[in-house]
Amino acid sequence: MSVYFRQLLSGRDFAVGDAVATQMVNFSYLIGDTESREAVVVDPAYAPSELVDVLAADDMRLTGVLVTHHHPDHVGGDLMGHALGGLAELLGRTPVPVHVNRHEAEWVRRTTGVSADDLTPHDHDDEVLVGAVPIRLLHTPGHTPGSQCFLVDGKLVAGDTLFLQGCGRTDFPGGDPDAMYSSLRKLAELTGDPIVHPGHQYTDAPKATLSEVRRTNVVYRADTLDQFRSLFG
Ligand SMILES: [Fe+2]
Repeated sequence: MSVYFRQLLSGRDFAVGDAVATQMVNFSYLIGDTESREAVVVDPAYAPSELVDVLAADDMRLTGVLVTHHHPDHVGGDLMGHALGGLAELLGRTPVPVHVNRHEAEWVRRTTGVSADDLTPHDHDDEVLVGAVPIRLLHTPGHTPGSQCFLVDGKLVAGDTLFLQGCGRTDFPGGDPDAMYSSLRKLAELTGDPIVHPGHQYTDAPKATLSEVRRTNVVYRADTLDQFRSLFG
């Protein structure tokens, strides 16, 4: 089994010249199997067709979408008056299953306008197979009710749950600081020291080992829920 994995930054690697994409510094990820040539895209926003084109140029075929959470900078939709491209546009070009956490499905539907039938709801610890490559889905609520992270080939695709510095905000609709604390603990306990790949480039480094993130990220200075609440709640 050989894993295809690419990290693409909005405004630099795709959606170049798009002011919102450039300002929001979102990462999309392409994950696939280099033998079967199948691949999924994580969080296609701004210019989803370009992401499919990147796959095509690599001789890979899109067979699905993974969604970390429903915010428009990750799946498309209205962001403060800006109509961002995303799931709806992607499915119009290439109808594929969209893998969401069960608790996020309704939010994704409302944000993007796709139908419930377009979404494949998942539970914590489900696995999505891309060719022969297994991707483990981890439910990590806090930033949103159905936020999820993905574990594949020693990499943790962390969405807006865990950044290299800080974590996702918990003051948007559906946010929950207590749930975020539990989710961050759950991620900290993952074995094998996966490399954290966040949903935004908020630091110079685009990725870091989980052990380094645990050592340097302020969110891991809180040892108890009470401390976390007083620091970040
Ligand atoms: Fe978000």
